[in-house]
Amino acid sequence: MSQHPLIQAFAEAGQSQVFAFFDRLNAEQQKQLLADAAEIDLAEIARLNATLVAKSGAAGVDLSDLSPAPYESLPKNGGDADQWAAAKVAGENALRAGRVAAFTVAGGQGTRLGYDGPKGTYPVTPLKKKTLFHVFAEKLLAAGRRYGRPLHWFIMTSHINHAATEAHFEENNYFGLDRAKVHFFRQGRMPAVDPQGKILLENTHTIAMSPDGHGGSLRALHRAGALDLMQREGIDVLSYFQVDNPLVRFIDPAFVGWHVIRGSEMSSKMVPKAYAEEKVGHFCMQRGNLVVVEYSDLPMDMQKETDADGRLRYVAGSIAIHLLDREFIRRMATGDTALPFHRADKKIPTVDADGNPVKPEKANGIKFELFVFDALPFAKNPVVIETDRADDFSPVKNATGLDSPQTCADDQCRQFARWLNAHGAAVPVDETGRPAFDIEVSPTFGYDEDSFAESWAALAPKPAVSAGLYLA
Ligand code: UD1
Repeated sequence: MSQHPLIQAFAEAGQSQVFAFFDRLNAEQQKQLLADAAEIDLAEIARLNATLVAKSGAAGVDLSDLSPAPYESLPKNGGDADQWAAAKVAGENALRAGRVAAFTVAGGQGTRLGYDGPKGTYPVTPLKKKTLFHVFAEKLLAAGRRYGRPLHWFIMTSHINHAATEAHFEENNYFGLDRAKVHFFRQGRMPAVDPQGKILLENTHTIAMSPDGHGGSLRALHRAGALDLMQREGIDVLSYFQVDNPLVRFIDPAFVGWHVIRGSEMSSKMVPKAYAEEKVGHFCMQRGNLVVVEYSDLPMDMQKETDADGRLRYVAGSIAIHLLDREFIRRMATGDTALPFHRADKKIPTVDADGNPVKPEKANGIKFELFVFDALPFAKNPVVIETDRADDFSPVKNATGLDSPQTCADDQCRQFARWLNAHGAAVPVDETGRPAFDIEVSPTFGYDEDSFAESWAALAPKPAVSAGLYLA
């Protein structure tokens, strides 16, 4: 058995430790280990060892020649109202023509939230406690009705949460969506290595593998046949968003319009950073290319730089909402340009030389991850547009404090109150816009202010605005 070609290949690559316990494993365990090993591209690991692992620490992020990226301001902040109006019309036409599909990256492990399950199954709405996936599903359903074209929805999971994610949709009868238009696929995995570049075992018969980052979505979309499906269906715009943000307007006609009119291969939404230390990526220019520099990589003195008016210089925060052109994804997935990997030093449960479990107290290994925004510098005509934070971004990331279930529920209530008050209701709110009591608007009633306004105008008689108001 030790003559297995994979075992030989690992030995030749200096990775024989992966099979150190092979002869003691039962047949099932041997099969498992070989299956894990078969997923690994040894040449890729050798390349990463020579670059990211050999250089220690935060090496790899090039901060030279950075300047703030330009973006299209909202009309209320000085943007050209006619251009925004034209973009909205173009986007509505693209939606009516069925050119757009939705795409959620949901392969992350949600460790910070401390929730044991796929993050998309976390309940987030203020009254009905709908899950993140439920909210997205209803937005999609409503947008499909509005534009007369039910939309396809691609959902990227990981090995860890794939089955539980599908089960959530089954249990809820796909939230009323046409199940033939909901497509789940798993993202790829990468092994962790020790500081010497040796692939780590998780236990004697499995390798320490983890999801390859949301940037892995580009190759996973190709592998899963999603791009071919899009092509057959006449879809050329993929609306990318993260699983943690129920406010996201992922069917946003003006955004689609800017993308289409500019002939952009990848477009992004920004919000002005709320404060210098806010943990979001920054849109920057670097030698003529649009790039995103993570909050952890941009030095704090740069994050705090201000212009003559006292505004943050690196103000354009990334909220991880993008539109991607189908053929651009294909080029990134199959062409010569590959996204760069990022290194993350982590505590990785492993085994000692005798095969006994080790739970490390400090970082003992390195994980490799791809980030989707690293595709931006390769995209032709990329556009960044401004969006209203209150209508697009309130993620659930932490169990308490900032970006928590509480702040997100508050922001949803604020949004519903704002819509109601803009259209003639009288919801009492505090100075932050938070209503005095919880209310909820189902996305099927209104998933953005336009669709809300239409449903509200048609509603007769209007319900009393009081605690527990639920519009559906
Ligand atoms: C991310 C962005 C940051 C942005 C912020 C906005 C990165 C590195 N940073 O930060 O620029 O300002 O969101 O909220 O992305 N995911 C996968 N597979 C993976 C890893 C992650 O599908 O292998 C998905 C997660 O399920 C989630 C999303 O990617 O939907 C974001 O992942 P997370 O690691 O939580 O990103 P943040 O650090 O919060």
